[in-house]
Amino acid sequence: MTEILSVQNLSRQFVTKHMWRKADVFTAVRDVSFNVERGEIVGVVGESGCGKSTLARLILRLMAPSSGSVYFEGRDVASFSKRELRRLRQKFQMVFQDPYSSIDPRFRIREALLEPFAVQGVALERKEARVAELLDMVGLDPSLARRYPHQMSGGQKQRIGIARALALNPSLMVLDEPTASLDVSVQAQIINLLDRLRRDLALTYIFISHDLSLVRYFCDRTIVMYAGRIVEVLPKQAAPTHPYTRMLMDSVFEPDPRSRRMISRLEGEAPSGYARPKGCPFLARCGQATAACETQEPTLAQMPAPGHTVACHHTGAAVASVA
Ligand SMILES: Nc1ncnc2c1ncn2[C@@H]1O[C@H](COP(=O)(O)OP(=O)(O)O)[C@@H](O)[C@H]1O
Ligand code: SF4
Ligand SMILES: [Mg+2]
Repeated sequence: MTEILSVQNLSRQFVTKHMWRKADVFTAVRDVSFNVERGEIVGVVGESGCGKSTLARLILRLMAPSSGSVYFEGRDVASFSKRELRRLRQKFQMVFQDPYSSIDPRFRIREALLEPFAVQGVALERKEARVAELLDMVGLDPSLARRYPHQMSGGQKQRIGIARALALNPSLMVLDEPTASLDVSVQAQIINLLDRLRRDLALTYIFISHDLSLVRYFCDRTIVMYAGRIVEVLPKQAAPTHPYTRMLMDSVFEPDPRSRRMISRLEGEAPSGYARPKGCPFLARCGQATAACETQEPTLAQMPAPGHTVACHHTGAAVASVA
């Protein structure tokens, strides 16, 4: 396999300026590095607020990093000309949890599917044929092209979101919680569709979710984020080791009374991005902490299984020092 994407030491802060006091600096993503091979499905998992969507925007260059780099096919994206960035926007596509948050609700499905061509200035001769083809690719009847979004179900709308992302023949798709607002049975259909499309169209996915079991099921490799950092990288066959990953694994999903989503309740809270605690960021919630955890922040260390790394003094580092 060849590498399609490399993310190196990516960080992003948000600064809020004040008239009379020092600016507040919020760190949403901190020192994140990983590679993605062509054809791979890489999962990114973690609680709400841990920096997943910010990471997605940084990868797609929808937002500039405060530091660090993104390499596409070996080239630093920051060095791309305007023209190259435009081509990159065709090759990299994003699918959101709510696909219609970025589509004009007055658009019929046909217009929603043709919009990416207009935005990117791509001439299209056989518009109706392409619309029918895209609908067919995502398992929808071409007659739906004349409908409005409010006439579609949640699952159908997400299929339209995926079809829009496919319109310009991308090579990499970043899927940000694409099934989070769908019923479980519809979620399974969307996952099967994404799996088929990846194989048929030779796509690479970065799949973002707060649901560890879904990510583990669907993805070749799982990146676990906590408070803006990577705390574990898990190949498919490896067992979760970091105390936070194990906490996610043991969490029970229950229906949220305010929505149709399933939510998990985890003990405690992640540290605020405004303060950088000394020692391990997971310290306050960890049942295995020792004195070392209070003063030294653990870095990712290699575990016995190839590609498995963990940032914890009592797992990865211990194994690495023995090796
Ligand atoms: N534009 C922004 N300005 C200030 N803070 C932001 C901005 N975007 C995100 N954040 C903060 O960064 C943190 C990470 O957000 P996000 O990447 O959306 O997390 P996730 O997708 O994992 O829920 C959150 O606490 C969020 O409030
Ligand atoms: S380094 Fe210490 S506090 Fe952090 S996860 Fe490991 S055992 Fe827990
Ligand atoms: Mg998010």
